[in-house]
Amino acid sequence: MNANEFDKIIENIDISGEAPDTEPERQYFFLARAVRVMNEIMGRTGIRPTAVIKTFGCQMNARDSEKLTGILKCVGYKILPEEAEEEADFVIYNTCTVRENANLKVYGRLGKLGHIKESRHDMMIALCGCMMQEPDVVEKIKKDYKFVDMVFGTHNLYQFPELLYKALAQRQSVIEVWDGTDRIVEELPVERKYPFKSGVNIMFGCNNFCSYCIVPYVRGRERSRKPEDIIEEIKALADDGVKEVMLLGQNVNSYGKGLDEPITFAELLRQVCKIYGIERVRFMTSHPKDLSDELIEVMASEHKVCKHLHLPLQSGSSRILKEMNRHYTKEDYLALVDKIRAAMPEIALTTDIIVGFPGETEEDFKETMDVVSRVEFDSAFTFIYSKRTGTPAASMEDQVPGTTVKDRFGRLLVLVQEKAQRKNRGLSGRTLPVLVESINPQDSSLVSGRLENNSVVHFPGNENLIGQIVDVRLKEAKGFYYYGERV
Ligand code: 5AD
Ligand code: SF4
Repeated sequence: MNANEFDKIIENIDISGEAPDTEPERQYFFLARAVRVMNEIMGRTGIRPTAVIKTFGCQMNARDSEKLTGILKCVGYKILPEEAEEEADFVIYNTCTVRENANLKVYGRLGKLGHIKESRHDMMIALCGCMMQEPDVVEKIKKDYKFVDMVFGTHNLYQFPELLYKALAQRQSVIEVWDGTDRIVEELPVERKYPFKSGVNIMFGCNNFCSYCIVPYVRGRERSRKPEDIIEEIKALADDGVKEVMLLGQNVNSYGKGLDEPITFAELLRQVCKIYGIERVRFMTSHPKDLSDELIEVMASEHKVCKHLHLPLQSGSSRILKEMNRHYTKEDYLALVDKIRAAMPEIALTTDIIVGFPGETEEDFKETMDVVSRVEFDSAFTFIYSKRTGTPAASMEDQVPGTTVKDRFGRLLVLVQEKAQRKNRGLSGRTLPVLVESINPQDSSLVSGRLENNSVVHFPGNENLIGQIVDVRLKEAKGFYYYGERV
C-alpha cells in the first residue's frame, strides 16, 4: 500500500487510548498520532516540513528506504531529493557497514550536518541501517554526535512510526536498536522510487558467515517470508502498474528452508512468474554453493525470468575460498558456470570479487585473474578487502600490504573492463526488449532503459515510453552502455 491508501486506514483509528500490543496495528496507531502532531506543526508554522533520506549500500537498504519514505509521506512530510539534505527539516541516513569506507562516509557527512544544525535547532537527524547494529557505532554516536535525534537498527525498522512519534512529540532523542528478531512485519506504507519496478524482500538475514563479512552479525539469522505473503505483495504491485520485480535476499538460494511448509526458491520463482502483469523477474543474490539444478531449469524455461545471474566469486583461489568459508572451489565455480551456460547460452553473468583478503599471495591473485579471463563476466564489482571488527578474517595474520593490494586491484579492474567491453560489443546489431526508465538526463531527446541483462540503452523517444517494454535495435556499444533505435 502506498501513503495515500494508508491515509484512509489512519483516519479511522482511535488515538485517544492505549497503543495496541499487536503489530502492525501498533504502528498504525503511532502513525495516526504522528499525523496529529504534524498537523499541529503545520497549523502553527503554515509550512509543510521536508525530509531527505540518504541511502548507502545495497538493494536491501534501497528497499528499506522506500518503506521509510512511505511512512514519512503518510505522516505528512514533503520528500526532497538526496542532494537537498542540507536544507531539509528531517534528514535520515540509512547506513551500510559492509566496508569501512561506507562508515567513514557517514561520519564525514554527519559532522557537516551537525554544523548546520547548530544554526537550525529544529532540524531532526536520524540514523538507521546496518551500521547501527554495531554497538561500538552507537556508543560513538552517543558520545561524539549528541545532536542526533533518532537511532534505530535493521531489526526494528518497522517501528519507525512509533519512534518518529516519540521524537516529534517529546523532542527527545530516541535510541532503539535490537540485537535480533524472529519477526517480520510488513503491511506498512511503501513509496516506490520507480512506478514500474520494485524490489520485494523474500528473506532477511544471512547464515553463511563468510569469514570477511559483517552482514550476518548486523542483519541477523536467515528468515524467509511466507510464499503467500510474497505472492500477494507482488500481485498488488502488478495491479499498481509494476512490470518488473527484483526478489531480494542475501542468499536467495536458501529461501524457504526454515518455513513450516518448506519451499525452494525455484518453486517460488515459478509461482511469481505466473502473476499476471509482471513481465520481468530478477533476483539477488545467489550464493554459488547452493545454486540448484532446479533453479537453472526454472530460469531457462520461464521467459519472464531475466537471463542475468549475479554470482559472487569473491576469489578464484580455492585456498582463499576455503579461508573465506565459501564452501566451493575454483573448479566448482567454473563447472557451475559451464552448467548455467549450457542451459542458457546467452545469460549475462556478473560477480563480486574481493582483492587482498588476508594471506592472498600473487599466485592466489593469479587464480582470480584466471577465472575472470575464462568466465568473461558481463560486469564485476571489485572490492578492496576491508577489515571488519568481529569477523574471523579481522584477526587473521598476513594482512596484505596496501600497496600490493592497490596494484592487484588495478590489474583486476583492467581485465574486468576489457572482458566486459568485449562482451558488450557482442550484442551490437541485435534487436532486444528494453524497459524504459527515464528521460536521458544529458539529452532530453533520448530515453534510457535496461535490457534483460541489466545493461543501459539510450535511444530517441519521449516520456510516454517510460514504464513500457519496447524493442530496440542496438546500434553502437559504448563501453558499458548502448545507443539504439526503436524498431
Ligand atoms: N571487504 C571487502 N568487500 C566485502 N564484501 C563483503 N564484505 C567485505 C569486506 N569485508 C563484498 C563482497 C560481497 C559484496 C556485497 O561486498 O564481495 O559480495
Ligand atoms: Fe556476507 Fe557471505 Fe552472507 Fe553474502 S553470503 S551476506 S558475503 S556472509
